[in-house]
Amino acid sequence: MDRTVVLITGCSSGIGLHLALRLASDPSQSFKVYATLRDLASQGPLLEAAQARGCPPGSLETLQLDVRDADSIAAAQARVTEGRVDVLVCNAGRGLVGPLEAHKEGSVDAVLDVNLTGTVRMLQAFLPDMKRRRSGRILVTGSIGGLMALPFNAVYCASKFALEGLCESLAILLQPFGVHVSVIECGPVHTPFPEKAEGGLGGVLDRADAETRDLFYRYLRHCERVIREAGQDPEEVVEVFLQALRAPRPALRYFTTERFLPLVQLRFSDPSGSSYVAAAHQSAFHDKAAEGSDGAGAEAEAGKLGASELRAPLAPQ
Ligand SMILES: NC(=O)c1ccc[n+]([C@@H]2O[C@H](COP(=O)([O-])OP(=O)(O)OC[C@H]3O[C@@H](n4cnc5c(N)ncnc54)[C@H](OP(=O)(O)O)[C@@H]3O)[C@@H](O)[C@H]2O)c1
Repeated sequence: MDRTVVLITGCSSGIGLHLALRLASDPSQSFKVYATLRDLASQGPLLEAAQARGCPPGSLETLQLDVRDADSIAAAQARVTEGRVDVLVCNAGRGLVGPLEAHKEGSVDAVLDVNLTGTVRMLQAFLPDMKRRRSGRILVTGSIGGLMALPFNAVYCASKFALEGLCESLAILLQPFGVHVSVIECGPVHTPFPEKAEGGLGGVLDRADAETRDLFYRYLRHCERVIREAGQDPEEVVEVFLQALRAPRPALRYFTTERFLPLVQLRFSDPSGSSYVAAAHQSAFHDKAAEGSDGAGAEAEAGKLGASELRAPLAPQ
């Protein structure tokens, strides 16, 4: 029986690493996983974990692939010995956190290039063959930050909002081709993502005024609490990827957590945006729970929303 050939970007750590391991060690032994990494020098943790998990020989192969470099994508594609990829996982991503004016030179371009254009490059490389074969699945690692904006994540959210449009557009087109696109919408996940954020946490903060800096520190305290309370382990999140991968008729969106759905729904129930902006501001900057109280005051002020909604993740993702 032919194995399902899966190629994943961004496997040096986090979700990509755990998904590669999960599939390569699946008891069915039905997956051949090409785990790709921007820099092969960082493949140690993946290979050690694969050995510890007892991944069968030939179930996992690492390839260099930088989503910012079309030549490196083509070179990786040429090394897929099966001559086809059944499941493409566009997972590589980079965060950018801080006041807009504090982002370092080049950071904005870099993040858009990885998160958005990098995904487009991958699709341009792999989609034509899937269409020709009238078969294929594309899984894209999405984010709550692509469904509702988070403060101090303007460019990151812009990149993840853009992925939503990209994938939704393709999903409509691809129906008759038998190719399915799914976005796996993740809330906060315990990975090295914050530490790897472009330009470091906050960027050049002294470029921002004192009031903005104060709001940023408040937001960071809020994030700490949200990640502590709502952060998921990558092992839990990758099961949602498997759900999408195995679905006979995959949906466009899968959610790793339902915790933030009330806020997402608020964006649509008041199309003016005013309700969402007010609730999100309250949650991020007047988070009494993050300051040590029970948060009751903040809830009362926000009026319409209840505790769980106000405490929905507005953390960097
Ligand atoms: N963690 C969260 O809370 C969260 C929430 C929602 C969505 N997400 C999304 O989940 C995805 C994976 O992130 P993660 O949480 O697992 O964090 P992570 O551990 O930092 O993984 C990100 C991966 O992307 C890779 N990458 C960055 N630039 C690349 C490039 N130019 N070419 C190829 N690979 C590149 C990184 O490689 P290097 O190590 O070589 O830089 C790393 O392997 C991202 O798309 C992120 O936006 C994360």
